[in-house]
Amino acid sequence: MKRLLKGGRVVDPASGIDGRHDVLIDGDRIVRVGPDLPADGAEVVEIPASLVVCPGFIDMHVHLREPGQEHKETVATGAAAAVAGGFTAVACMPNTSPVNDNANVTAFILAKAAEAGLARVYPIGAVSRGSKGELLADIAELKQAGCVAITDDGHPVATALLMRRAMEYAGMFGMPLIEHCEDPTLKGDAVAHEGYHAAALGLRGMPGAAEALGVERGVLLSELTGSAFHVAHMSARVSLRAVRKGKEAGVRVTCEVAPHHFTLTDESLASPIPYDTNVKMNPPLREVADRDAMLAGLADGSVDAIATDHAPHHYDEKKVEFDRAPFGIVGLETAVSLALDRLVHTGLVRLPRLVELLSVNPARILRVAGGTLAAGAPADITIVAPDLKVRIEAAALRSRSKNTPFDGWELRGGVAATLVGGRTVFVNPAIGLKRL
Ligand code: DOR
Ligand code: ZN
Repeated sequence: MKRLLKGGRVVDPASGIDGRHDVLIDGDRIVRVGPDLPADGAEVVEIPASLVVCPGFIDMHVHLREPGQEHKETVATGAAAAVAGGFTAVACMPNTSPVNDNANVTAFILAKAAEAGLARVYPIGAVSRGSKGELLADIAELKQAGCVAITDDGHPVATALLMRRAMEYAGMFGMPLIEHCEDPTLKGDAVAHEGYHAAALGLRGMPGAAEALGVERGVLLSELTGSAFHVAHMSARVSLRAVRKGKEAGVRVTCEVAPHHFTLTDESLASPIPYDTNVKMNPPLREVADRDAMLAGLADGSVDAIATDHAPHHYDEKKVEFDRAPFGIVGLETAVSLALDRLVHTGLVRLPRLVELLSVNPARILRVAGGTLAAGAPADITIVAPDLKVRIEAAALRSRSKNTPFDGWELRGGVAATLVGGRTVFVNPAIGLKRL
């Protein structure tokens, strides 16, 4: 079955394309991209000129909670949230219960993803057994089962020696080590960013230096082992400095920033709702200079990817004292609107660069398919409506959890449709896209 997406602005930085083009799809693959392609028996789908056709967005950092915490999210509900948010693929963290530290858990997640049939799901395996930081997980087994990276996310890898060994193994299999950068001794039992607002509210704070120490360690070990090191959810300006320094020295370091870290600051601890547990995440919302540094890094190329750290938690678990609430917010269904509104419409980032951050670079870092609309690539496509007026409503999210600080936000830009392997898996009812 052939389909021709006719019209629309096609942005495919990997092929150097940015302009009015058509996209010809045959089954699950892209056949051709070019101006005014002939229909040639293909079913023609008209794409309005106001929409932008992009290679599918890939969220390289999500928590899907299955197995073990299905009251927060399942692979199926997470995949539904992903495609509604414009993501054709997600990479899921191993901090499930049991932890994804062996082939059985990986196979289980992949089976659930196939059953859901929505977004592609790439499992990420644990660095250590049970993510306990003692014994290495069987990294070859995880690779064989389909994991694309390793991490002990939620926590940093316990020791430098363990990280060194993990990098040596992961490197042999071409997998990056993704690190939750944090020095636990400096973080202590803090629950917020160390600064004015935490002090005023009586919350224990952690400084950006706690994160940067983890970045520095990883950069040094990446240099030592020659293996790829990826900084998860970077939030502090001192961390960005360490990443830049590593890159300048030729170290294989990459990093991602989450939408909440380029939109919000620690001022949200105080207002509009003081002690709102929907602004509690780890790493925490930082001060203005940190937020501005993340924006600068997104604009100048030193940040590689936008990833959500989608961390669903049940209402009952979040509806407690700030101190006792779990860290994390959902992000899959708000990321694209936040990025368009705060990065593109502010003039900070152009659309091709946004596509690099959301598609090209995540595919490159994880070495997975996608990131391009070139002939032969899987027909994973995100169609964006840059000028759509969007109002975020927590209650309407597809995710099983609604823990977002963006409830009620009005933003410019949204997702029009999502195609995975040539199949339409999401169409935004707010846009009358016919026959997609
Ligand atoms: O906010 C967070 N939530 N940070 C993490 O590192 C873990 C995550 C979770 O699993 O909830
Ligand atoms: Zn983390």
